[in-house]
Amino acid sequence: MRIKNKYRKPTTFNCNAGGRCSMSAVVWSLVGCLLMLHLYSLARHKDGVGGEIQLRMSQHPQFRELLEVEEENIQMPPPRKRSPRAAKRKPKRSTTLIDEFLDENSQLRNTFFPDQRTAIDPMKDTGNDSFYYYPGRMWLDTEGNPIQAHGGGILYDQKSRTYYWYGEYKDGPTYHAHKKGAARVDIIGVGCYSSKDLWTWKNEGIVLAAEESNETHDLHKLNVLERPKVIYNEKTGKYVMWMHIDDTNYTKASIGVAVSDYATGPFNYLHSKRPHGFESRDMTVFKDDDGVAYLIYSSDDNSELHIGPLTEDYLDVTQFMRRILVGHHREAPALFKYQGTYYMITSGCTGWAPNEALAHAAESIMGPWETMGNPCAGGSKMFRLTTFFAQSTFVIPLPGFPGLYIFMADRWNPADLRDSRYVWLPLIVGGPADRPLEYNFGFPLWSRLSIYWHRKWRLPQGWSGLK
Ligand SMILES: *[C@@H]1O[C@H](CO)[C@@H](O)[C@H](O)[C@H]1NC(C)=O
Ligand SMILES: *[C@@H]1O[C@H](CO)[C@@H](O)[C@H](O)[C@H]1NC(C)=O
Ligand SMILES: *[C@@H]1O[C@H](CO)[C@@H](O)[C@H](O)[C@H]1NC(C)=O
Repeated sequence: MRIKNKYRKPTTFNCNAGGRCSMSAVVWSLVGCLLMLHLYSLARHKDGVGGEIQLRMSQHPQFRELLEVEEENIQMPPPRKRSPRAAKRKPKRSTTLIDEFLDENSQLRNTFFPDQRTAIDPMKDTGNDSFYYYPGRMWLDTEGNPIQAHGGGILYDQKSRTYYWYGEYKDGPTYHAHKKGAARVDIIGVGCYSSKDLWTWKNEGIVLAAEESNETHDLHKLNVLERPKVIYNEKTGKYVMWMHIDDTNYTKASIGVAVSDYATGPFNYLHSKRPHGFESRDMTVFKDDDGVAYLIYSSDDNSELHIGPLTEDYLDVTQFMRRILVGHHREAPALFKYQGTYYMITSGCTGWAPNEALAHAAESIMGPWETMGNPCAGGSKMFRLTTFFAQSTFVIPLPGFPGLYIFMADRWNPADLRDSRYVWLPLIVGGPADRPLEYNFGFPLWSRLSIYWHRKWRLPQGWSGLK
C-alpha cells in the first residue's frame, strides 16, 4: 500500500506531440491498423487459441457455472439522522459505496464484512456446503480461528504435495502511528497455513516472527512487513521468502529476504536492501518454468514497476532490471504464465481503499508489458471498479485445468486490519481477444482474461483436492 494518492492519466496518441502530420495520413493509418487488427483477430480465432479453451470450458457444466455472470445489487442505505452537532463537525455524509465501505459505522458493514455467524468453517461445513468459497466472509482454519495470512501467496510443495499459504499475520490492534500515518498493525510475523485441497487450512504457526526489543532490526515490531512470498529453490533445496520491508512512514522502501530448509520454517532472516538501488514497496516473486525466479516491485514513488531475475540461489537480485508500466502508478502485482504468455494483475495506488484492477500481458517476462484492461466481470459497476472491494495479491495455478486460476485478493478493513477478508475468485484466460488499451499497432492481441464475481463458488469436479 502507499500513503500518497497520485494518479496520472495514461498518455494517449497525440499527433501534435510528434510534430505536424496531415489528417488524411492519420485516418489512413487508422484504417490500416483496424484492418490489421481485424485480420489478426480472425487468424487468431481460426487458430482456436482462445476459442478452443472457451469451448472446452463451457462444455464442462461446472466450468459453465464459473463463467456465469452474477449480478450484485447493493442498495445505498437511506441517509442517517444525525445530531446537529455532528452535522456541524462533519457536514458531508458518505455518498458512494466506497465511502460506505470505508465507514466503519455504515449500515452496509455486514454486507462487506459479514460477521462470524457466516464464516467458512471447513471443519463444520462438511455437507453440501463443503469446498465452497464465499469471497469476503470470514474463513476459519482447522482449529476454528480466522486465517491470518494477508497480502499472501501460495507455494505448492512438490515433495509433500501440499499447498502452503504465507501472509501477514495481523491479529493485533489497528492504530495510527501519528496523525498523518496510515492505519497499521505492528509486525507480528508471517503466518503459514497448509492444505491439500486449497480450502481446509491448518495453521502451521508464525514462520518468521517480529523482533520485540531490537529497535534497529528490520523486523522490529514498529516497522512494516508486507506481502511475503515464498519460492522453492531446487538447486539449494531451500525455501526462500521475499517480502516488503519498510519503516512506519514507508521511507525505507526495501525488500527483505529470509530462508529455511522447511516450508513450515522457521525462516532465517538474512537482510534487506533496495533492489538495484531503487525504492521497492509492493512486490512479488515469480518462478518461471525454467527455474529462473524474478522480483517485481513498485518503484520510483510507486509510479512504475521494476522486474529483474534473481541469482541462482534466489537470495539476491542480479544486475539485470527493466522498468515496466512506467508512469502507470500500479502496485500489488500478481503474475502467472499461460501457454507461453506472461500475465499480471495490478491495482492502483490508493492506500487501503479499493480501486480498479488492470490486467497486463507480455511475451517476454522482461517486457514490454501491455495493459489489456479491467479483468473484473459481474457483480456491479462499483464491484468491477473496486476489484470487488479488494486488492490483488496472488494468482494460483491449477494444474489439470488449463486456463483456470484462482485470483487471490485482500479486502482490507482499515478500521480493523486483522479482520481484513480474503476474496478468492475464478480467473479464466481464454475466449475472444482483448483489445489493448494502448496504441501498439494492434500487435499482439492477447486472450481475454476475466475474473468472475461469485457470491459462492467452488472448483470444478475433478479437482484433485476433491475426493
Ligand atoms: C444443504 O442441504 C440441506 C438438505 O437438502 C438443506 O436443508 C440445506 O439448506 C443445505 N445447505 C446449504 C448451505 O445449502
Ligand atoms: C539488532 O539488530 C541489528 C540489525 O539486525 C544487529 O546488527 C544487532 O546485532 C542486533 N542487536 C542485538 C543486541 O541483537
Ligand atoms: C514519521 O513521520 C512523522 C510525521 O512526519 C514523524 O513525526 C515521525 O518521526 C516519523 N517516524 C519515523 C520512524 O521516521
